[in-house]
Formats: sequence, structure tokens, C-alpha cells
Amino acid sequence: MDLSCLINYNLLHFESMDSTNAEAIRLAKSGITGNLLIVAVEQTSGRGQRGRHWVSLKGNLHLSIMLESDKNLKQLSQLTFLTANVLADTIESFCTTPEAKIELKWPNDVLVNGKKVAGILLESIKVDNNQYVIIGIGVNIKHAPIIENRLVASLKEVIEYNGNAEELMDRLVKHFDRCYLEWERDQDFSKIRTKWLTRAHDMNKIVTIDNGEGRISGLFRGIDEEGSIIIELASGQISKLNYGEIVPIIKS
Ligand code: BTN
Repeated sequence: MDLSCLINYNLLHFESMDSTNAEAIRLAKSGITGNLLIVAVEQTSGRGQRGRHWVSLKGNLHLSIMLESDKNLKQLSQLTFLTANVLADTIESFCTTPEAKIELKWPNDVLVNGKKVAGILLESIKVDNNQYVIIGIGVNIKHAPIIENRLVASLKEVIEYNGNAEELMDRLVKHFDRCYLEWERDQDFSKIRTKWLTRAHDMNKIVTIDNGEGRISGLFRGIDEEGSIIIELASGQISKLNYGEIVPIIKS
């Protein structure tokens, strides 16, 4: 791994860890300062979105990027979309199969040919006067766990990626660093949003969103300037949701 060009980060590498996001939170609480990259070859209690378990096998990438930031929570949530763009660009840069379709599923999934290959878990914590954002990134490189009612794939299967997690991480982190510095400087979400929308999965199709309290269905019309999903209901009324997920439809 050659991340020597990145002077802004310290790299912590573990063979096994419960969860790199959980480790980042512990380190933040212990008073560590500065930006960290925490990577684990395997995780024993990988955390996914909405309290789910993230199956974390050797050969896949498990990375948390921990950044100190004074931006507010609304601004920080934009980093999910920035990271999704970075992941999609990175996967595309390794892609040798022209028919592979790389898409982004609101709010935090990366799909190839309709199957999930990567997910993002953004967490934040304030310790004294320091605020940290933790961007957890999981990429199915060699293994695709079997998850009920979900279409999941590995990069090996869908883009014939035969490299390792370190190679992918190296390119991913360098690209992330460039995009993050630009975001910090310009505070321009519209550019990120426009790019994200070019790869949006199910755009202008009927989708069902589950936000934990209930479900609504309608036409997926995009995301707004805060990353909320825009849904056009059957009545024509526009509804915006800032939390939830698009319920996957598994065709048998
Ligand atoms: C999702 O549910 O799609 C988000 C998955 C995020 C998994 C990554 S793996 C590295 C980091 N540490 C964790 O415990 N979770 C994230």
C-alpha cells in the first residue's frame, strides 16, 4: 500500500477487529486527534446500516476514515454521497467488463448489475469540543455474503477484479482525499449531487421507501440539496425523506 502521499492521515491496520467504526469511536473518546484510516482484514462484529450486521470476511475491504471536522451534521451527511461517488469511480477505474453497470442506490449502496457490492456507514461523535465523522466503507471484493432478500455480489464476480483489498483501498483513499479537500474548500454539494444522480438506481421508477416508521411508494424523482430522497406520490404530491432505504424488489 502506498499512501505516503497522504500526509493528513495516520494508518492503523488490524488483522482482526470487532468493527473499525467502533474502534474509531473508542479512539475518539480516548482523546486521539487528527485524521485516521482504520483498516481490518476481517471484522467480528461489522456494523451495517440500520443496526444490521455487516458480514466481514478476509479478502473484502473494511475501512473507516475518521476525520476531525467542524462542519454541522447536515453538511457531514453529504459525505455519504461524496463517498458513494468515490467508490463508484474507483470501481469503474478497475472495471474491464464494459457491460458492467455501476449504480448508486439511495442512500448508501453501490451496485454493479443491480447487486450490492459496497456499503457506507456514516457516524459522528463529539468529544469535548472536537467533532469527528467516521465514514465506514465495506466492499465485497472476493466474497459476497448470502443475505435474505438482498442481491449481493463480489467485485470478483461482477467486474472480474482480481486485485486485493489494499490495492483497492490505495486508489480509493487517494481519490477520496482529493474529493474531500475540494468539498471542504468549496462547500458545494450541488456538484456532488449532480454526479451522484448520473448513477442513481431506479431513477424515475416506482420505489418503496421504508423509514423504520412506515413505507411510502411513488416515483423516485431525485435527491434534494440535503440528500433527502424526492418521491412523487400517486396524488402528484412531492414527499421528501431524509432517512430510510429503498426496499429491494427481488424478482423470482
Ligand atoms: C451498509 O449497511 O451498507 C453499510 C456497511 C458498512 C460496513 C463497513 S465495514 C468497515 C466499517 N466498520 C463497520 O463496522 N462497518 C463499516
